[in-house]
Amino acid sequence: MMVDFIADYYQKIGKHPVLSQVQPGYLKERLPESAPYNPEPIETILQDVQNHIVPGLTHWQSPNHFAYFPATISTAGFLGEMLTTGFNVVGFNWIASPAATELETIVMDWLGDMLKLPTSFLFSGNGGGVLQGTTCEAIVCTMAAARDQMLSQIGRENIGKLVVYGSDQTHSTLQKASQIVGIHPKNFRAIETTKSTSFALSPEVLKSTVCSDIEAGLVPLFLCATIGTTAVTAVDPLGPLCDVAKEHGMWVHVDAAYAGSACICPEFRPFIDGVEGADSFSLNPHKWLFANLDCCCLWVKNPSALVSSLSTNPEYLRNKATDSKQVVDYKDWQIALSRRFRAIKLWLVLRSYGVNNLRNFIRSDVKMATFFEGLVEMDKRFEVVVPRKFSLVCFRVSPSAISKANYPTANYEKCVNEVNCKLLEAINGSGRVFMTHAVVGGIYVLRCAIGTTLTEEKHVAMAWKVVQEHAAAILHPPCIN
Ligand SMILES: Cc1ncc(COP(=O)(O)O)c(C=O)c1O
Repeated sequence: MMVDFIADYYQKIGKHPVLSQVQPGYLKERLPESAPYNPEPIETILQDVQNHIVPGLTHWQSPNHFAYFPATISTAGFLGEMLTTGFNVVGFNWIASPAATELETIVMDWLGDMLKLPTSFLFSGNGGGVLQGTTCEAIVCTMAAARDQMLSQIGRENIGKLVVYGSDQTHSTLQKASQIVGIHPKNFRAIETTKSTSFALSPEVLKSTVCSDIEAGLVPLFLCATIGTTAVTAVDPLGPLCDVAKEHGMWVHVDAAYAGSACICPEFRPFIDGVEGADSFSLNPHKWLFANLDCCCLWVKNPSALVSSLSTNPEYLRNKATDSKQVVDYKDWQIALSRRFRAIKLWLVLRSYGVNNLRNFIRSDVKMATFFEGLVEMDKRFEVVVPRKFSLVCFRVSPSAISKANYPTANYEKCVNEVNCKLLEAINGSGRVFMTHAVVGGIYVLRCAIGTTLTEEKHVAMAWKVVQEHAAAILHPPCIN
């Protein structure tokens, strides 16, 4: 019954408004105030799911979902999740489920190999990988490892001197991680980027920021470089950034949450050239590699740095395998003790599709994004704001299409932003597609992120039609007398 329900949901997914149209608090009005005392039949529960839950869903798997980044799914990922849930093992250490741990080490090496990561990141080269839920957790863990490594050299009392670096485009997860790890809020640097470098972090600016921090008696700790930033998929230049960071003894983490998956294709691999200079690397197969949420891959060159920061050894978890030091105990590579058997999902995805098909799925998304970009470029009222690299197109109604005469000159840029913001609200209010926005260098851009598993070219063409229709209404409102 449940499988039929889900199949039915997918059959009709295109019929729902993509962005949920409910108002805050809608569900409390519809559901009882307390849990039932007696059991209820699944038929009744599913009916309530249909009537009350589905209207409050924003349909991430709709082919018309172009917001944020895609959360790709696949039949293999779905089946893998069924096995994860079905077995429901809790493989915090090797003995708690040897297959869960060993499969994880194997798939992490497989995927690392697909990405052509240097062997120093793989188990086969004395590094290694771990599956976590999210990038946020991965960064907290690596930053904690970096912190403890540094404090063992300079003394724990100097924690207030540690500095973390990213760019103003780095995901907010870096700031959150810094707070969690105990970095003084004043020592978090979001270095400004500009349109001239396509919003990538400049190694020269990093260097001068680091040097002035050192002059002020601070200690550079951690650099997060991003491959495919969230707002506009900017790519930070890994090689030169790692050079600056290494000169000053910093840990470099590479966050490739979305775009990293593309690097399994030889034509995209150059985007992570220079990764050999980094200490850790993460990407989310739940974003663009067909592994249903959640699945974040983290590789580190020096697992013992992670382990010495995150390990605990209570008596009740002691066992011969751990004592032998022949096994990986993944509890020491993450925040929590308990962990899901995610590896079986990733294993199913990699095996069911094979490297070749996975590459072709990515290529097909990029081709559709190129198609959308071409449509934007053909319409003189619009412009592509930042050159597209992967499957995200950042565009806006061009200032030249907005009559200056209607706006006071001093506020013209602000008005251009307002028109684009109004356009996005109208598009999303239609319920036909869902896109999101970003503001970069003061410019409000609409983001069309292509890659949802069910999206085909016809959906992309339709999305563009929706944009054009709403733009026409905003730029030339009909006269009402
Ligand atoms: C570049 C980048 N890093 C990190 C994240 C956050 O990922 P997570 O939700 O896995 O913490 C995102 C999410 O879109 C992202 O684009």
